[in-house]
Amino acid sequence: MSATLFNQQLDHIAHLQREYEKVLAEHGFDSLGIYSGHAAMHFADDHAASFQAYGHFMHWVGLAEVQHSWLVIQPGKRPQLHLYAPDDFWHLTTKLPDEPWVSALDVQLCTTKPTPALSGQAAIIGDVQSLSADIQQALGAERFPTALIQSLDELRVFKTPYEIACLREANRLAIAGHQAAQAAFIGASGELDIQLAYLAASRQRESLVPYQNIIGLNEHAGVLHYQHYDLSPPKQRYSLLVDAGRRFRGYCADITRTHAGPDAPFSFEELITALHGLKDELVQSISPGVGFITLHERMHAHLGEILVAHDLFRGSPEQAVKEGVTRAFCPHGLGHLLGLQVHDVAGLRHPDGSPAPAPQDHPALRLTRTLRPGMVVTIEPGLYFIPMLLEPLRDTAPSINWTLVDQLLPCGGIRIEDNVVVTESGFENLTP
Ligand code: GLY
Ligand code: MN
Ligand code: MN
Repeated sequence: MSATLFNQQLDHIAHLQREYEKVLAEHGFDSLGIYSGHAAMHFADDHAASFQAYGHFMHWVGLAEVQHSWLVIQPGKRPQLHLYAPDDFWHLTTKLPDEPWVSALDVQLCTTKPTPALSGQAAIIGDVQSLSADIQQALGAERFPTALIQSLDELRVFKTPYEIACLREANRLAIAGHQAAQAAFIGASGELDIQLAYLAASRQRESLVPYQNIIGLNEHAGVLHYQHYDLSPPKQRYSLLVDAGRRFRGYCADITRTHAGPDAPFSFEELITALHGLKDELVQSISPGVGFITLHERMHAHLGEILVAHDLFRGSPEQAVKEGVTRAFCPHGLGHLLGLQVHDVAGLRHPDGSPAPAPQDHPALRLTRTLRPGMVVTIEPGLYFIPMLLEPLRDTAPSINWTLVDQLLPCGGIRIEDNVVVTESGFENLTP
């Protein structure tokens, strides 16, 4: 670990200690237990489902895989980590990483599943419901008080320099994966082999990805959360969409690239270039004080221009937006907060915790806040040829160039996604 990251991590822990003390005092608590969570087992087997530790647990220790463990936070005391580390000859015993946070916490290695003692007015948060009723009772604390959790979520929205350094590194590793995926596509690999190339180059096993990588060839590029990997390559190669990430010390990258294949019409390549331009323009609009809903609406205005410029819509850009045509070509939101979770907390809340829901016309938008320094967001404009959304318009929207749509349907769609920090003076793109 570099000296800079070392010091940044210690500053991050000190910042959390200060801020947690304020939040606990504000909500009238003397102690807080944060449960890591644990993986569910497949029925009657010793095979666990994929797992990631609770976000507020990772905020302190960055250990996405740790289970059955507790953090205890109390004002004026060093944080305690009760780390479950059983004597076990079936599995490798949990070991502490060689990182500075270890020296800032009182760490207790527990050979049995710990139940921490909490003093005074206590609260517990995390997936506590998965613990037995006896254990929940024994903890004798208020379970997941909403107002307290909202304050802690709000703390997560604003990243420390340490967290931004982790997100930068997660991006660097993911970019290596994206380059390998593109090379595999050029080499005519199918979805599974592109996925394996991605995992190898980004140095991660599949169970540790921050979200299931989306590796879609041809029409699959138009399935927003396409969840399979075909074993064999298709005969025709029109397109590849890769939406794939990487975790680094808990923090997630969430990057998408789309590539045209040898069988794609030239208009598809031109549209990819246009979407890169749109992504860059939206990234450059990021600065403190900008509303994310405004940016999302700007994306639709530009999508209208792209549809007209590329002869997909024979009307005005404004008409394409007003008639809902841009929404049929791009049904998801412009982006979301990013951090310890891919879709990080508090995107649909005001700073005081009150709800800030998505606008009625854009129900899939996951971030409605005004941008402030320290936020990290994704910017992910898309343009898709999704039969389910376009078919109902065939009779009602003659201004759509259906001949061109039919040529582009086998390409599925395009999404370009970068991860961006809001800085005091503007932005830093973590996905160069
Ligand atoms: N990878 C999921 C998303 O882009 O939101
Ligand atoms: Mn995303
Ligand atoms: Mn994504």
